[in-house]
Amino acid sequence: MSTPSAPEQATALRTHLCGVLRPEHVGQTVTVCGWAARRREHGEHLAFIDLRDHSGLLQCVVDGAHDIRSEYVLAITGTVRPRPEGTVNEALATGEVELGECSVEVLSVAEPPPFPLDDRAADVDETVRLRHRYVDLRRDDMQRNLRTRAAVNRAIRAAMDDQGFVEVETPMLIASTPEGARDFVVPSRQKPGNFYALPQSPQLFKQLCMVGGVDRYYQIARCFRDEDLRADRQFEFTQLDAEMSFASQEDVLVAITAAVSAATAAVTGDEVTDVPRITWRDAMDRYGSDKPDVRFGMELVELTDVFAATGFNAFKASCIKGIRLEGGSESTSRSRLDDLTDTAKRWGAKGLVWMRVERGEDGALSLNSPIAKFLSEAELAGIAERLGAAEGDLLFLVADDWATTCHVLGLLRLELGRPPVDEGGRRLLWVVDFPLFESIDPATGRPVSAHHPFTMPHAEDLGLLAEVASGDGDAESLLAVRSQAYDLVLNGWELGSGSVRIHRPDVQQQVFGLLGISEAEAQHKFGFLLDAFRFGAPPHAGFAFGIDRLVALLVGEENIREVIAFPKTQSGADPLTKAPTAIDAVQLDELGLRLLPPPAD
Ligand code: AMO
Repeated sequence: MSTPSAPEQATALRTHLCGVLRPEHVGQTVTVCGWAARRREHGEHLAFIDLRDHSGLLQCVVDGAHDIRSEYVLAITGTVRPRPEGTVNEALATGEVELGECSVEVLSVAEPPPFPLDDRAADVDETVRLRHRYVDLRRDDMQRNLRTRAAVNRAIRAAMDDQGFVEVETPMLIASTPEGARDFVVPSRQKPGNFYALPQSPQLFKQLCMVGGVDRYYQIARCFRDEDLRADRQFEFTQLDAEMSFASQEDVLVAITAAVSAATAAVTGDEVTDVPRITWRDAMDRYGSDKPDVRFGMELVELTDVFAATGFNAFKASCIKGIRLEGGSESTSRSRLDDLTDTAKRWGAKGLVWMRVERGEDGALSLNSPIAKFLSEAELAGIAERLGAAEGDLLFLVADDWATTCHVLGLLRLELGRPPVDEGGRRLLWVVDFPLFESIDPATGRPVSAHHPFTMPHAEDLGLLAEVASGDGDAESLLAVRSQAYDLVLNGWELGSGSVRIHRPDVQQQVFGLLGISEAEAQHKFGFLLDAFRFGAPPHAGFAFGIDRLVALLVGEENIREVIAFPKTQSGADPLTKAPTAIDAVQLDELGLRLLPPPAD
């Protein structure tokens, strides 16, 4: 990773960074500062010290006895000279030179590091790394990740500024936002018994900015969500958050593509020119996922009609699809197939049909499967033909309702075919036309919002919405209502999402009504937004994408913790500061809080 301009980065204590010295510096007397990465003794009075700073390593040849240990902080003054013949280290950027005639000043002594700071750190328990994150951050990988993150933020800011977006900071202590997760809350001292919420996103404030005439807002915004942590989720994370007035979905897609392209170019040198689009329905049909990883094929193939008149009971289902694992038969044992069947059941399937594609003695292809005997010749031929089966392939079929079939085969496709995070390039994809509602809550019979309740329905589906809202048509038919919501997907990760917002009070009332949000509740939760809309709301649309996720994928990390300076562990703790911690009785008193005894385990 290149360092910014002024490569020497001279300060009061140093003339150069360690990693910048090259043959052209030979003969110069320089002072470098850093940590003693390695020390090798050569006889009694000669030592080689590899000095490390963020720019790299420099070999320093030190005469005389010095008590220098690993990770001591040193200032070394010496003369740059070529390394003796045969000792050039091509693996090191400074490998052609070394520092000779060195004088060493110890700036700080150090205890032995809690773990090795080289490649072996990858095997160190993560809690140990996080407890000593300040040491962990000295490692090359972490330096690269933090600097890449800074470069991404810089590029995003420049891209948004260039497009006329205005950076506005929105508050951290707010009333709850409806993003669907639990809030982190902060008790109020001045109003005991009352709480602020930390923003799950700046959603409502950016919409208020639109009413306020900001026109194009953006923010590199810290967001907080109390949800179960995973490789791509932290309690606090960072979004590029944006909103545009008098704008359509198309305008947002163009603006966001420019920001992602600038960020990508800053890291890889490659701009993003054309991001393909797929509808949500197509994504589910072909990949069994609303965030398809299109680095590999193995698309789901429609087979329902092949079994229209089947005698096989398990295939008398509303949706049958299959996938083909090319050449997968030989490498997949029977016990692995049994495991996959169990896994498919855990994902919700009633069963999983597998078929090995073999060539019989007569030279014809045959499908070898425990259920083959229940299928007609025409059905078997139909499967082979649709899936493009070739000798040695392994086929998988699921028969269920549409959602379950897609879901299970989508997960199986990932399980069997997904390349590692740093392989297969970067494949961005817009997923458009999401449904407005994701399901019908069986408890209430009401639809559940797929995005948030301010998402504008698709113009063509407003009629259907109005029909159900006025009492005609059943709730189930609402699942066909599309919204003007869109996601950006990168290699199977949801990078971001957004929507055109409802600015018409009549449509908003309809949606609230269908969701079962009463006028009083709407007023209580986001009355300030609804009030603002009464004072002249421009049509507006927006988007937010996760910067942690983008940076992780750009540097090829599986976990966003690797691109966050001070993340929480999977269980939400910070081993470094020990947060969350108890607070003392005085603080509790001031806040008017009394604690219940902790629940028994
Ligand atoms: P959404 O909730 O989809 O949309 O969030 C947008 C993006 O933020 C990132 N993200 C997270 N990253 C890390 N850890 C988390 N816990 C986490 N939660 C979300 C993801 C996600 O795609 N206000 C809307 C946007 C809009 O409509 O304009 C919103 O926040 O990359």
